Amino acid sequence: MSHFLVRGGRRLDGQLTVQGAKNSVLPILAATLLARGQVVLLGCPRLRDVDASIRILHHLGCDARWEGDALTVDTTALDRCGISDQLMREMRSSAIFLGAILARCGQADLSYPGGCELGPRPIDLHLSGLRQLGAEIREEGGFLHCRAPALVGRELVLRMPSVGATENLMLAACGCVGTTVITNAAREPEVVDLQNFLNACGARVSGAGSSCVSVQGGQALHGCTYRVMPDRIAAATYLCAAASAGGDISLLGAEERHLTTVTAALRQAGCAITADGGGLRAVCRGPLRAIEPVQTAPYPGFPTDAQAVLMAALLRSRGATVFEENIFENRYRHVGELTRMGAKIRVSGRVAVVTGVERLHGAPVRCTDLRGGAALCVAALAAEGETRVSQICHIDRGYEDLVRDLRALGADADRVEETDNS
Ligand code: UD1
Repeated sequence: MSHFLVRGGRRLDGQLTVQGAKNSVLPILAATLLARGQVVLLGCPRLRDVDASIRILHHLGCDARWEGDALTVDTTALDRCGISDQLMREMRSSAIFLGAILARCGQADLSYPGGCELGPRPIDLHLSGLRQLGAEIREEGGFLHCRAPALVGRELVLRMPSVGATENLMLAACGCVGTTVITNAAREPEVVDLQNFLNACGARVSGAGSSCVSVQGGQALHGCTYRVMPDRIAAATYLCAAASAGGDISLLGAEERHLTTVTAALRQAGCAITADGGGLRAVCRGPLRAIEPVQTAPYPGFPTDAQAVLMAALLRSRGATVFEENIFENRYRHVGELTRMGAKIRVSGRVAVVTGVERLHGAPVRCTDLRGGAALCVAALAAEGETRVSQICHIDRGYEDLVRDLRALGADADRVEETDNS
């Protein structure tokens, strides 16, 4: 099993270009199933979850191949409407293929995605919406058998603004006769990116970014060339890394309008963050201050995906900061690992209180999930001595090369590859 070695105590100084957004490209890859012709995705991040999506596309009979950081996909030759259980389990968000396959084939057979390291990941909103559009869905022994001889657009009201359900229903709605209106839709920038991609292929989608998304179904979609938006959570991670270690960094491509709650929190803690020539510059000097309570919420609220990295940045701040996690049940699994490095954090249910300590020290720690793993690296940058971060397969799901990027910012970090029998 490979691991990272991070030697803390060095201030960051440098610049990097932020990778394309994982949470954008995954639904976009599912959406390619709706287009006949070649899709070229520019700025596509090379991630474990993207590889898993490519394997799903190959399994369905489609063509997908890399040329540099461009991924070319042609789904014209699709000859299957089912995804094996093994492929479904490789990626948490594989359920996003359901709406697209149904719209393309009128049927879909795949296994239930099940839970994940953040707690249960129900898809009841996805299934209820698809049923309302006319799909018959039979759940049997962990499998979903979906049939949709005709999908018909209508108004769908989501109980909560789920990102995945909004995207899945947008994809299914492209295959509907008539117009679908999704009310209480998720407003995340990645939903807007999916809308922009679909429209570049000839779809008629509007309203993404607001809580009401409208899809005029039945358009024949064609291929296109599309640039994936920059990853706002990767950008948040590097801002938090600079806050943790101190320094002066520039993130090319980072968009502040996608990150306002994160930059506001970091400014309150004492960092100077400015929009700077097509990106963001963060200058973080001196000790950080504790900040107002951080409550995770659907966009435009504070992103649950940035909770762990911000917590890691504040471990040595002056005073106590309260975190309230409102999206996922099990999102403090990194806390035990941070404690091994000398952090002082008390968790009670959905609340965690971080009390700043004078110093952190290196320790052997394990990634418990993707963003929790990134948080361990953010903390390690500010720790005295060496931190060995294991189980980095979680980090590889969402960061192209975290160590490469931290090194570009001047960090002292290495990735150590180990073969299974070492
Ligand atoms: C997406 C992101 C993930 C992020 C999350 C919240 C992708 C690939 N992943 O995940 O990184 O952490 O948004 O911003 O984009 N829920 C239900 N029933 C459903 C669907 C969701 O109860 O049918 C609940 C979930 O359990 C969770 C909440 O709704 O408590 C939000 O989940 P959702 O927005 O759907 O997250 P994902 O799309 O899975």
